[in-house]
Amino acid sequence: MLCKVGWVLRCWSCPMRDEAMISASIMCANWMHLENDLRILEKAAIDYIHYDIMDGFFVEDYCLGTSIINEIRANTSLPSDYHLMVEEPVRILRNFTPAEGDVLSIHYEACRNLHRDLIRIKRLGFKAGLVLNPATTLNAIEYVIEEVDTITIMTVNPGFMGQKLVPQMINKIAALAELRDKLRLDFRISVDGNVDAHNIPHMVAAGADILIGGSSGLFVDGQLSMESITQMRKCMQAGLALREA
Ligand code: DX5
Ligand code: ZN
Repeated sequence: MLCKVGWVLRCWSCPMRDEAMISASIMCANWMHLENDLRILEKAAIDYIHYDIMDGFFVEDYCLGTSIINEIRANTSLPSDYHLMVEEPVRILRNFTPAEGDVLSIHYEACRNLHRDLIRIKRLGFKAGLVLNPATTLNAIEYVIEEVDTITIMTVNPGFMGQKLVPQMINKIAALAELRDKLRLDFRISVDGNVDAHNIPHMVAAGADILIGGSSGLFVDGQLSMESITQMRKCMQAGLALREA
């Protein structure tokens, strides 16, 4: 589903299907080296900083409040990719300030009025993102799919870093990519959880456009390095080659 412009210009409405992007899950960084890590991510021109926001209710743990997030945002020009693991996230949407290209994602499972909430996210000036837990079927999103800019397939259950891939999620990514083509839509497919050297080629081959790099693929043993970014990109290329084959 590529238009002519899509081949020459990278833009949201014409995502190049021969590219994949990296979003760096900053909760997995070594916080003692945060400044240094931000400079590495900028030098490597990664695509987003991924902020995991947890409320201790939708998921068990707590993570990343707005004061910490805004401090990081003030110190980097990289776009933001917010992942709200929060019950009824509509309550706190106004805590976030959009910048050009920022994505704000909410969970299907956390919203009482998902359609309204997605519209509200767009009205605030964000790209609207929808996240699906492993157990949530694609049928569930039939009546909101046209509203979204990004759909994130959780490839682990949300809430903790360092978990193992739920293997049936590879088929779910492929089914979502097929559905996108069938409906002639142009949302991006993002994957979150155990995005590592082994899984990336399968995820990308199945149709993933945005890889959320966490403790398993980017901040390996809490350490970010140019090598881990290069390694992720090599695996992404391998996945793109598999997709073409
Ligand atoms: C999981 C978080 C992820 C996490 C993934 O709930 O949403 O963003 O950082 O990183 P891994 O699975 O590689 O530790
Ligand atoms: Zn996340």
